[in-house]
Amino acid sequence: MILNFAHRGSLTEAPENTLPAMEMAIKHKAKAVELDVQLTKDNHLIVIHDQNLSAYTNQAKGLIKDYTLDAIKKIDIGSTFSTEYKGVTFATLDEILELIPQGVIINIEIKNSPTAYSGIEQLLVSCLQQHNRLENVLISSFDYSALEKVQKAAPNLKLGLLINRRIRKAWRFIRSSGLSISSIHPNARYTNRKLIEESHRLGYKVYPYTVNSLESYNHLLKLGVDGVFSNNPAIFSQHLAEIC
Ligand code: G3P
Ligand code: CA
Repeated sequence: MILNFAHRGSLTEAPENTLPAMEMAIKHKAKAVELDVQLTKDNHLIVIHDQNLSAYTNQAKGLIKDYTLDAIKKIDIGSTFSTEYKGVTFATLDEILELIPQGVIINIEIKNSPTAYSGIEQLLVSCLQQHNRLENVLISSFDYSALEKVQKAAPNLKLGLLINRRIRKAWRFIRSSGLSISSIHPNARYTNRKLIEESHRLGYKVYPYTVNSLESYNHLLKLGVDGVFSNNPAIFSQHLAEIC
């Protein structure tokens, strides 16, 4: 089966990574969603892609790490997207986990750069344990040391390795990393047949990001990917291998 991820929820229809974006993805019958997690100043897991608030509003400035959860929850980011979403704020991971049905796979990406959040891995594992959400979750990061820490804290959690550059023989690099990963998430630009075949030979699923046109999607399916990350509901709500 092909598994497609609604990237940051349905980000073309609602502010990315928020509860409404996740609700839209579920409404489209997405079987999997992706989100990004960071830490507030007072160590709460908050679902946000950029580390700088300027990407979301001109009402607040600076970095997520310098805001408490209370302060972050006072920021209206919905209005920047559209008046329809006035009053929508960033969501905590707790809120998202309460919203998303157990049957929907959640890919949680730890956003650990440029700021590396000390202790985020253990807080994430504890949060998932509290929500009884160790199944149907996939943790990924461009920061491989964060994945190592997750692996130590919860060896049974599925891990996905994000790759944003062209790595020669990436599959060898992965094998030697010591990480017990279940999938690789390469930039779609660097995804080719060889990478897919060698990854499959080693037992890794391959989910490239971010694939928004049906043409690119169909091309990658023909190459053999196991799914993609997409902003396009016409793609992230499809789950059967219609070709190959
Ligand atoms: O996980 C795939 C994709 O989300 C990684 O890139 O920058 O959209 O978080 P980015
Ligand atoms: Ca992401």
